[in-house]
Amino acid sequence: MTTDRPITGADLAHERSDAAAQATDGPTVIPVALVDAPYPVVVGRDLPEVLTAIDLPAGAATALVVTQEPVVAAGHVDLVETALRDAGLTVHRHLVRDGEVAKDADTLAQLWQVCADVPLTRGDLVVAVGGGVVGDLAGFLAATWNRGVAVLQVPTTLLAQVDAAIGGKTGINLGGGKNLVGAFHQPIAVACAVDTLATLSPRIRTEGLGEVVKCGLIADPGILDLLETCAADVLAGDPELLQELVVRSAQVKAAVVAADEREGGIRAHLNLGHTYGHAVESLTGYSEVLHGEAVAIGTVVALRIGQRLGCTPDDLVERADALLARLGLPTRGPALDREQVWSVIGRDKKVTRDGVRWVLLEGLAMPTVQAVDRADVDAVLDDLLA
Ligand SMILES: NC(=O)c1ccc[n+]([C@@H]2O[C@H](COP(=O)([O-])OP(=O)(O)OC[C@H]3O[C@@H](n4cnc5c(N)ncnc54)[C@H](O)[C@@H]3O)[C@@H](O)[C@H]2O)c1
Ligand SMILES: [Zn+2]
Repeated sequence: MTTDRPITGADLAHERSDAAAQATDGPTVIPVALVDAPYPVVVGRDLPEVLTAIDLPAGAATALVVTQEPVVAAGHVDLVETALRDAGLTVHRHLVRDGEVAKDADTLAQLWQVCADVPLTRGDLVVAVGGGVVGDLAGFLAATWNRGVAVLQVPTTLLAQVDAAIGGKTGINLGGGKNLVGAFHQPIAVACAVDTLATLSPRIRTEGLGEVVKCGLIADPGILDLLETCAADVLAGDPELLQELVVRSAQVKAAVVAADEREGGIRAHLNLGHTYGHAVESLTGYSEVLHGEAVAIGTVVALRIGQRLGCTPDDLVERADALLARLGLPTRGPALDREQVWSVIGRDKKVTRDGVRWVLLEGLAMPTVQAVDRADVDAVLDDLLA
């Protein structure tokens, strides 16, 4: 990790793109090729190796590390802070409460005060070390403090490495709903070390596979082949397999974000499984069913809707369903009040004047967005929950 010079688009262009070949021999650099501010997602084995490959903003003197207790207890935060100090930065650490509760306005206000006290100035750096909660919260802190300071994302859950930390969506929750207050604020880099995943509980690591399967379905069939061939080893936490899955999934997300930074078009494809998935999360209080689990349930719903409409081939529906189940992810929802489901879906941003727009698959790696009649959705839900 150096502060010599900022990363340039030319640096990114020189990186090799053959992820599979690199997955076992050092970090892989995946460019997020945004015109204004391209940045790298660096995927490697351990934190020192990954952080060494990242250039910090020239002129940053202070880093505010935002994290949570389990990430500290697992030893990851010390490694990040050592790398930051080695790069010449003064480091401050701030712990927020664990869990989704930390993504609230009170915690954000406390963090603003911490920034004032440190003080964190315009050229300094926020460093998010943790899962998607820390990434969203610290990202939004960076988006708002001093009208925007740099943020380095160091995701330590599988879900955050393949999804949440990439793409610049940041935000907090209000009592009335998730992620209602937020901003697009792209990081300067995303540092993914797969060794950090070894300290996750099996359930939280498996949850992330829901998003990995989604990436395979919408864009990279090789992900599905790998998961089908090596499911047991992936579930056991094999680091080489995890590294390849993180690289391939991050490539899917990076490519989509680069093509559509503000979700005006194809970025919506990343929402496969999320329309019904969000309803499941919301109606079960955001704790009983984890995000990636809800996405797995919602993916099966979306594929069945596509099948009913004659859009999604039968064998693809069966393949995805079987793979999700084999990975230990739920594929059938909890029974939910149907009116409440439609009320949550109706509040979702995926609703237009044509009705609710669902991401469906016309085939493997062939996503499409379509308005679907409520009767068709209800018929699928009745069938799945029967
Ligand atoms: N911004 C986006 O594009 C985006 C996308 C998807 C999800 N999200 C958000 O991400 C959040 C969910 O993220 P998550 O699933 O990572 O959950 P999380 O951030 O709550 O992390 C799960 C748990 O694991 C702990 N933890 C994290 N890393 C650890 C490690 N290496 N070892 C041991 N424990 C560790 C955390 O402290 C926490 O208790 C939600 O708030 C969701 O809205 C954001
Ligand atoms: Zn998601």
